[in-house]
This record gives sequence, structure tokens and C-alpha cells, in this order.
Amino acid sequence: MALLQIKEISERLQISARAIRYYEEKGLITPEKQESSGYRLFTEQDAARLQTIVSLREVGMSLEEIGRVLAQMEEGDSEDVLHHLELQRAVLFSQMIEIRQSIETTDRIIARGKEQKKLAWDDIYEWTASLKQSKQLRSNWQDHWNYDSYAALHDERVGGERSQQEYGAYPSYPFALHRVLEVVNPQKGEKGVDLGTGTGNLAALFLERGLEMKGLDQSIAMLREAERKHSGYEVRLGNFLAIPYEDHQFDFAVMSYALHHLTEEQKRLALLEIKRILKPHGRIGLVDFMFEDRQAREHYVRTLRDEGREDVIADMEKSHYADRAQLIHWFEEHGYVTKVEEIHKRLHFIYAVPARGHL
Ligand SMILES: C[S@@+](CC[C@H](N)C(=O)[O-])C[C@H]1O[C@@H](n2cnc3c(N)ncnc32)[C@H](O)[C@@H]1O
Repeated sequence: MALLQIKEISERLQISARAIRYYEEKGLITPEKQESSGYRLFTEQDAARLQTIVSLREVGMSLEEIGRVLAQMEEGDSEDVLHHLELQRAVLFSQMIEIRQSIETTDRIIARGKEQKKLAWDDIYEWTASLKQSKQLRSNWQDHWNYDSYAALHDERVGGERSQQEYGAYPSYPFALHRVLEVVNPQKGEKGVDLGTGTGNLAALFLERGLEMKGLDQSIAMLREAERKHSGYEVRLGNFLAIPYEDHQFDFAVMSYALHHLTEEQKRLALLEIKRILKPHGRIGLVDFMFEDRQAREHYVRTLRDEGREDVIADMEKSHYADRAQLIHWFEEHGYVTKVEEIHKRLHFIYAVPARGHL
């Protein structure tokens, strides 16, 4: 095998000799050294490794992460490498969304400055503070529920009779999923996305109708299970707060038992993200834990207390049941008309369509 000197490999790969030395310093490549001259000698394998390093740098991966990916590649662990790349894609989408928001804020400041010939410091502060707040909301989200550890058990849990009862973890599960399908009523040729897809049970109903469906979840183990169950179901790793799909891709978005993992503020951010990936006529069907409003929640909690169901109250408090009135308000403010159904006191279905569409 031909051995290349640093100048040759630098020219061939269009990477500066300085960068190559830097990667060597960081332990990412270990070229041989010619004893007599002390020159570095690179093998074809070093060249492939360097090419990989540069590509991964290009997608914004840190050197530390690159080191891990290279080690996994060497061990032939392609699943882990793919996981890294999927994480990286999610990070890039999140950065893109933040940059866009920064541009929008800057545009507003410029427009205000031009309009009023003078900048209102309060406005600037308010806009940049809201930018900072959305960044924090995005970065603060954590999977307190550890869904990766539930992936193998999810279908058993949702299928269990007790779990489907009123106080169970998945009340009315099959009914709720079918209701989403029925109301969203997808038409041939439409493209949809199941957000927080888990093992893909809701998406499956649409796939069975021959529709093109994509999925999203923050749990890699859930996604692997979804892919295993439904061949050809394309899913992406990512968060509702920075959805790794391009703008205006989908005719509809569906979601089941997932939105309650976000706080009220995070829900609003996620809804903006959902709106972004939908086509202008795109509709949303979501079924989740919520109460009609604050009074309804208080009433329900009082009833549970009277029945001695502190366990159900404790479970409810581990997540963020929505206030349906606030969700509806958000939809109306953003140009949607909605249809709501109470499946159970704490499980509701919301169908939202842009106002110029038809319910
Ligand atoms: C209770 S499971 C429901 C799964 C599926 N929709 C179903 O009905 O069987 C909730 C799913 O939402 C996902 N999830 C929760 N919060 C998320 C977030 N912020 N971004 C992406 N996925 C999220 C979890 O990883 C989990 O797979």
C-alpha cells in the first residue's frame, strides 16, 4: 500500500497540513513516523479517517464526539454511529431554528429603527429576552420519564386492560388512536407525520391506509422499535421543540399521549414548530391528557381525593396536563378553527384546521 507524506495527503484531500497535525495532536489519527527522516507517513486508512473527520466537522460535530464515532466505526458498530449522526442532525436543526429566530428579531429591530428613526430600547430588550427564553425552554427539556428504558415494554403497557381504564396510564388507547385517524381522514397522496411516535402505533393506522408517514421521537430506543415493527417507516430522532423536518412538508401532523411531556410554555413553542413543518393548509390531530380548564382540573383532583386516589394525583403531577382552553386559545390566535372531543375527563382530542380550510 502506498504511503503518503503530509504534503501529498493534504493536496489529495484538500485539508491543510496544519489541520492534519492538529487532528494528530488530538489523537484522532496516528500516522507512522519514518525512522530516518521523522516524516509522517499516511496510509489509505488514515486518508479515509481524515476524510471522515472533515465530513463530521462539516456537520458541526465536536472533536470529542468525532473521536467516539471513529472508535465505534472501527468496532463496526454502525447503529451507534447512526445514532450519533441522528443526534447531530437534531442539533443542526435546533441551531437553524435559533439562527432564524435571531434573524427575525434583528429584522424587527431594524424595521422599528427605520420606521421611528429611533430605537426603542424597551422593545429591543423585550425581543431579545424572548429569544433567550425560547433558547432556554429548548435546552431545559429533559426526558424525566426515561422512554428509552420503556421501549421494549411500551406495547405491552398500552395494550394492558388496566392501563386503558380511566385511571390507567393509557385510557381508551385503541379508541383514541382510531379517532385521530377517523377525524383527520387522510386522503390518498397526502403526507403525514406522527410526533412522539413511540413504537409507531398511531402512524401504523395511517400506513395501513397506504399513506406516506414520517415519525419523530426523542427516544432512540422507541424509534428502533418503531422501525422494526413497520418496515419502510422513516423516523427521525429529535425534539418537539426543534423538529428536524424542513418547513411545509406535511399535510397533517398527529400526536398521541405525548404533548403532556411539555410545560405550557414549551407546548406553545412545539405548536409553532408543528405549524412550521405543515403546509399552509396542514391540519393537526392530537389526543392527550388535558382538562377543559383550570376549574375542571381542580374538580377532578377533588373527586380523586374523595376517592382516595392519591396515586393518580401523584402520577398526574409528574407531567403537564394541558389546559384545553389555553390550547384552543393558541390555535385560534394562530388562525386555526378547532373541534374538540372529551374522550375521558382527562383525555381529550383536538382537531385543528387553518381557518380557510374545512372542518
Ligand atoms: C407516552 S409515549 C406515546 C407514544 C405514542 N404516541 C403512542 O401513542 O403509543 C410518549 C412518546 O413521546 C415522546 N416524547 C415525549 N416528549 C418528547 C419531546 N419533547 N420530543 C420528542 N418526543 C417526545 C417519548 O419519547 C415517547 O416515545
